[in-house]
Amino acid sequence: MSSPSPSKSSRRGAALARVLAPLVGAALVAGAVFAIGGSGVGRSWGAAQSYAIAPIVPLPVDPAKAVLGGMLFEDERLSHDDQTSCATCHDLKKGGVGPSPAKPRNGAKSAFDTLSVFNAVFNYRLNWLGEFSSLEEAIDSAVDDPAELATNWNDMLTKLKADPLYADRFRALYGGGWDKAAVLDALVQFQRTLVTPDSRFDRFLRDQEGAITAEEEKGFRLFEGFGCIACHQGRNVGGNLVQKFGVFAKPAGDRKMMKPADLGRIAITGLERDRFVFRVPSLRNVAVTAPYLHDGSVASLEEVVAIMGRTQLGRELGTSDIDLIVKFLRTLTGRYQGVPLDQAEDVGAAK
Ligand code: HEC
Ligand code: HEC
Repeated sequence: MSSPSPSKSSRRGAALARVLAPLVGAALVAGAVFAIGGSGVGRSWGAAQSYAIAPIVPLPVDPAKAVLGGMLFEDERLSHDDQTSCATCHDLKKGGVGPSPAKPRNGAKSAFDTLSVFNAVFNYRLNWLGEFSSLEEAIDSAVDDPAELATNWNDMLTKLKADPLYADRFRALYGGGWDKAAVLDALVQFQRTLVTPDSRFDRFLRDQEGAITAEEEKGFRLFEGFGCIACHQGRNVGGNLVQKFGVFAKPAGDRKMMKPADLGRIAITGLERDRFVFRVPSLRNVAVTAPYLHDGSVASLEEVVAIMGRTQLGRELGTSDIDLIVKFLRTLTGRYQGVPLDQAEDVGAAK
């Protein structure tokens, strides 16, 4: 999942064709930013509806397959050296990310900040470059990525088949000839359980009295009025568009953009118009997924909101506006297994 390697180019090529369509939509959104940026604050939260922001909902899953997927998720034998599991990088007690930056695996380090696994199932495109359109593809790419599990399917399947516990469960659920597709399916079933409903903001969307404070609501109205919502939209408050990072001001004005990962989607499409274009990240649970931006270069929400104002909206946000927006962003923290993610010391995958 880090930088593209030749062995993956054909798969990425196929993914590319599917990714091109939303670019048209992205151009329209860039227009919308101007329109909304001028309209000021104080409109009703109806804008949330027109940008399809909706509460997180639990999804139907096959429970037995999801439990099996949870076992795999936490099993270090999935990696080449038996030292790394999905949970090593996607800690469910830490917002589905961290420790950050991810430690190098076998000397290889991911070029990108770890994305949360929570609510990933609702993202239209996956990864910072939006190069995958299904969880299967995204998870598949973690397997042979030298900076992630650093293994290959043959080795992994050999290990899993040698373990009677896995062999029996897989046979029972997927039949005797179970293989890579069964492992991916179990992991995807588990991913489908990694949703975080019932944030205070979702309760607000459901018209629950007192779900958020007056200040938090003011922050949301600024988020609408400034036009953040034009890009961070959809059920995940992001995750469904690709957009240029640096519409109005070069992010390089705030930070150095020197590494290959900073070039954005041009790295996979080769198209000049994709320079500095990234998937707009989801802001669900953003208060518990620091650090921020594709390279994890920003530690605080206040700082990243100021950068967004400058680079994406062409405005210098005042500190009181920034504080209100950050207060709103903190209402986007949901619950996993009934526990708010910022108090999630007791949650885990396999039961
Ligand atoms: C060494 C750390 C590491 C390991 C191990 C790892 N991941 Fe990731 N994961 C990442 C990073 C970094 C990204 C972002 C990659 C990118 O954007 O190119 C990511 C992205 C993802 C995404 C996409 C999220 C989104 O919203 O786009 C999913 C889903 C995911 N990982 C699931 C898994 C699963 C399941 C496993 C185990 C099979 C796994 N990961 C193993 C670091 C890791
Ligand atoms: C034109 C589209 C656009 C607009 C408008 C926009 N953003 Fe973003 N936002 C992005 C993109 C793209 C990124 C990812 C940048 C990167 O790291 O490459 C991002 C990243 C972020 C992040 C970091 C998330 C993370 O997990 O790292 C936050 C927080 C954020 N935006 C909040 C806001 C706020 C608040 C506003 C309004 C003041 C706003 N954005 C306006 C496109 C936009």
